[in-house]
Amino acid sequence: MTQSEVKHVKKIDRCRICGSSRLEDFFDMGNLPLPNAFLTKEDVQKPEKRFPLVVCFCHDCTFVQLRYIVEPDQMFKHYLYIPSGSQIRIQNFNEIAFTAHRRFHLQSDSLVIDIGSNDGSLLSCFQTLGVQVLGVDPAENLKVAAELKGIPTLSEYFTQELAQDIVNTYKKAALVTTTNVFAHIEHLLDSMRAIYAILDEDGVFISQFPYLLDLLRDQLFDTIYHEHMSYYSLNPLLLLAERTGFKIFDIQHVPLDGGSIRVFWKKKESHKWKIEQETIDQFRAIEEREKLYTIDTYKDFGARVQRTKEELLQLLGELKQDGKRIVGYGAPAKGTILLNYFHIDKRLLDYVVDSTVYKQGLYFPGVHLEIFPESKIYEDRPEYLLILAWNFATEIIEKNKRYQAIGKFILPSPEIATV
Ligand code: TYD
Repeated sequence: MTQSEVKHVKKIDRCRICGSSRLEDFFDMGNLPLPNAFLTKEDVQKPEKRFPLVVCFCHDCTFVQLRYIVEPDQMFKHYLYIPSGSQIRIQNFNEIAFTAHRRFHLQSDSLVIDIGSNDGSLLSCFQTLGVQVLGVDPAENLKVAAELKGIPTLSEYFTQELAQDIVNTYKKAALVTTTNVFAHIEHLLDSMRAIYAILDEDGVFISQFPYLLDLLRDQLFDTIYHEHMSYYSLNPLLLLAERTGFKIFDIQHVPLDGGSIRVFWKKKESHKWKIEQETIDQFRAIEEREKLYTIDTYKDFGARVQRTKEELLQLLGELKQDGKRIVGYGAPAKGTILLNYFHIDKRLLDYVVDSTVYKQGLYFPGVHLEIFPESKIYEDRPEYLLILAWNFATEIIEKNKRYQAIGKFILPSPEIATV
C-alpha cells in the first residue's frame, strides 16, 4: 500500500462483536480497488487506491469479518449504488413494507426510519402504506434522489449523537429498517445502541443482509469486499443482541443476492412480539450441521474459488480464441471484485452494460472496462454476455429474451454455466 492508502485503512486485532483477539485469517484476496469507485475517463489515467481484502474468523464468538477496515468516507460519501435498478429488489422492498405494516400494526402516526436509506426506495413503499418515514444516509448525491420521491432524508452517518437528535427533533420509531447495510457497519455495538435509542419501547428493528451460509455454500467470493465488513451467522448475531439490549425474535431466509436473511429484533424488555424459538433453533441446527462455527469449514474456501477462477478463465479464453465477442452484463460492486480478482479485462471482455444511468460512461475500477447502456448489446450483437449481476440473472435473462436469438449468457455464480 502507498502512504495515502495506509492513511485510510486500519487493521483490526479484536473481534468487532466480542472483543476477542483470537482472530484467524482464512481468505486473502490481496489489494483490490474499492468496488464502487467507478472512474471517469480522466480518472482512468490516474493512480487508483487499492486496499487489502482479508477475511478472518473469531475463535471465540465465530464472527466472520474483514481484517482491514477502510475509512467510511472513502466508500460512502459519494455512492453509486442504487437499488431501484432491479424489479426483484423493489418487489422485496414492497414485501418488507407490506408484511411489516400488517404484522406490527403500523398506524398513520407510526414513524419508520430506514438507516442507509439510499434513494428512498424502501421508504417509498412504506409511505404508500400511509405511515411517516425518515431516511438516514451519508451519501450526499442520493439525498436529492430520495427527496425527489418525497422522502425526508438526513444526509449523515448514523451515530449515537444523530440518534439523540432524531429523538429530540422527531420522535421514536415504531420500526427501524436496514437492508444491505448491516454488513457495512463498522462499530456494531455503538450502532445497535443508537438503534435502541431511536426505537419505541415495543418497536421492531428489521435488518436484511446476505447470509454467510449461502456465501460459503455457493462460493460467493465476489460479495466479499471492503464495504462488507461483516458476514453473519446466527451465533454472533445472538451475542450482538444480548450485548446491546435486544432480543432476536424471528429470522427468515430470503432468496435475494445469492441468499439473505431478514432478522427481527425487539428490545429485551418488550413483551409484545412472540419469540419464534422453533425457527431460531432450526437456523442454529442447520448452521451446526454445516459446521459454520469452526474454522476448518472456511479453510478450503480460497482453494475452491481458485478452481472457479481457472474454469471461468479457460472458458472465456477459449471463446476469445474462437473470435467470439464477450460483453459484461451489469456493473455491480461484486463485478469489480470478480473482474479484478480474476484479472478479466479488455483482453477478454469488450465492455460492460448496466441500466444505472449514473454508472454509464464510467469505467470499472482496476480493469478499466467501460460501462454502456444495456441497449448497446442490440447494436453490437456480441456472441456472449457474462452476467456480472448474477443475483439478478433470472430478471436479466427474462427481460432480454430477444437476445437469445443473438447469443448466450454466461453465469459465473453459483456455478459456471452457459445458457
Ligand atoms: P447489485 O447486485 O444490486 O449490487 P452490488 O453488487 O453493487 O451490491 O447490482 C446490480 C447491478 O446490475 C446494478 O448496477 C444494476 C444492474 N442491472 C442491470 O444493469 N440490468 C438489470 O436488468 C438489473 C436487474 C440490474
